[in-house]
Amino acid sequence: KKKLKIGLVGFGVVGQGLYDVLQKSPALDAEIVKICVKNKRQRALPESMFCYSGEELVKDENINLVVELISDADAAFHIVAAALRNGKDVVSANKKMIAENLAELIKLQEEYGVSLLYEASACGSIPVIRNLEEYYDNDLLLSVTGILNGSSNYILSKIFEENKGYAESLKEAQELGFAEADPSFDVDGFDSLFKLVILTAHSFGTVVNPEEVLHYGISNISDFDIRFAREKGYKIKLVGQVEKLEENKISLFVLPRLVKKDKYIYNVEDEFNGVVIKGLAYDKQFMFGKGAGGYPTGSAVLSDITAIGHDYKYEYKKKNFYKEFLYVQSGEIEI
Ligand code: HSE
Repeated sequence: KKKLKIGLVGFGVVGQGLYDVLQKSPALDAEIVKICVKNKRQRALPESMFCYSGEELVKDENINLVVELISDADAAFHIVAAALRNGKDVVSANKKMIAENLAELIKLQEEYGVSLLYEASACGSIPVIRNLEEYYDNDLLLSVTGILNGSSNYILSKIFEENKGYAESLKEAQELGFAEADPSFDVDGFDSLFKLVILTAHSFGTVVNPEEVLHYGISNISDFDIRFAREKGYKIKLVGQVEKLEENKISLFVLPRLVKKDKYIYNVEDEFNGVVIKGLAYDKQFMFGKGAGGYPTGSAVLSDITAIGHDYKYEYKKKNFYKEFLYVQSGEIEI
């Protein structure tokens, strides 16, 4: 096992969550040696722990693992790519950065013989990426469908369960640390889209350009839609799905859907996420857990740190890359 000397980039909700969960894991041979932040200000940790330049941090010879937890995707890519080029393993939670640069990131890992893990980027505490990588055979796998955004689900839950208004519920999601710095990222479907793109790479080995995928969020759901859903006994949920259609074709979408009572995801409430995995031989499986918040996300980052300690790398289902994909707005989805 490697001794891990961590350079942490970002000390927001997830960074601080990670710091706390690391303190609860004394058996793990990992230590945060530097934390890179944007601005100087009073913090609970000694000033000597902090630095203000990502470039400096990725060159630091005392660091062998860079953990990137900032929200700016372009800045994050810059730092992560430089870290990989400097021979450092990387753990990231940045779904936009990963989804938009996946092909390049896979190349960099191969070229420099390093590992980039990002379990925390999709579905917070649920170990969905690791399971897709290791457990599911992509010949048997048929579809991955889920509630992938905690904030949207929190808002929809408050609207449906507690009759609260949209704006008030969004504000709560922000105050609780679930929503992104720019909440339109959550409520307009981008966050779910990026997570879906990541899950697709690990489900079917296909790198999809997020710009080509149909996606809507929840910000245009009207009072009429909500009344209609209620009257018919449905809930509205923001659903992301990737489905295998036929040989070499998959379809993807992120859309608000009417969900019936008998579906697993009907009871996924608040900031929880839920993913239904369908396949030949095992029919359906359901993974459920907290999809947002400092501690749940921090725990997924911690799990990646542990995996880096064992030299774990993603394989991206290399043996069976699907080359083409279609995206369609399918009629009835069976969840
Ligand atoms: N803003 C995200 C969400 C955080 O609400 O799901 C977790 O990725």
